Amino acid sequence: MPDTGDPRIRLEHRDHVAILTIARPEKLNALDMSMMSALERAAQLIEAERDIRIVLLTGEGEKSFCAGGDIEGWAGFSPLDFGRAWVRHGHRAFDAWARLRQPVIAVLNGHALGGGLELAAVADLRIAEEHVMIGAPETGLGIIPGWSGTQRVARRFGAQLTRRMALFGEVFAAQEALALGLVDALAARGAGLAKAQDYVERILARGPVALELTKALINAAEGEETERPLEAIAGALAATTEDLKEGVAAFRAKRKPKFRNE
Ligand code: COA
Repeated sequence: MPDTGDPRIRLEHRDHVAILTIARPEKLNALDMSMMSALERAAQLIEAERDIRIVLLTGEGEKSFCAGGDIEGWAGFSPLDFGRAWVRHGHRAFDAWARLRQPVIAVLNGHALGGGLELAAVADLRIAEEHVMIGAPETGLGIIPGWSGTQRVARRFGAQLTRRMALFGEVFAAQEALALGLVDALAARGAGLAKAQDYVERILARGPVALELTKALINAAEGEETERPLEAIAGALAATTEDLKEGVAAFRAKRKPKFRNE
């Protein structure tokens, strides 16, 4: 698997399964600009690799899945750059992840806070280890949850739950997060990746193309994106027709096509 461009964003791939690990445990896996670029690149690599059928997204260490954006890095931004660079960059990377062809499972090995919650939200399923805490502390720092924390997070988990976290600063422990639908399954400390195997096997037993199309349709229903899946599915259908062959043949022969409507 090619390099993501930053060793703290580690991508491995084996037996149809890709594992993306955020590996900056000394800073609780907080994401800086270079790591965001690497995350975006990783999504492009995964998208292009036909052999990958499911992706696990996790963090290194026991304490944190991701403690959000790198707060230290904010000092270097002008207000406009904060919007133009930091927020837009985060959206590009997280959108690419939420719209991946393959199903994604977030294995919350530790806390998911702020950008960590926003990153967990890009996944199709979340498994939390029992010690995990989940929340959106940004307004307590005087900033907004800007990597779709008021948008995708609200779409996926509901606006009211988002209000509780983002406006009132509620932080949920794993068990409560399960009851509220923020996560889909629990695992013992250190056992999240093993627990994910059950779900990996379920995915690998299903038709990859059907899964890809179904994920795109569910994303469209949720408002994640509509234009690209619609055109991708329609394009794939049109590409199966004899009329396309005829159109291309006519183009090459510099003649008018004789379409047969089939
Ligand atoms: N950005 C940059 N550095 C971060 C960070 C972040 N979001 N979250 C944690 N770190 C760093 C700490 O500065 C510390 O670095 P240091 O050892 O060089 O001082 C290291 O990670 C360990 O964190 P620390 O705060 O000492 O651990 P803790 O167990 O006392 O507290 C948290 C854990 C998660 C409660 C606390 O780190 C925290 O509140 N982090 C910020 C979470 C947040 O607000 N995220 C939203 C940003 S979008």
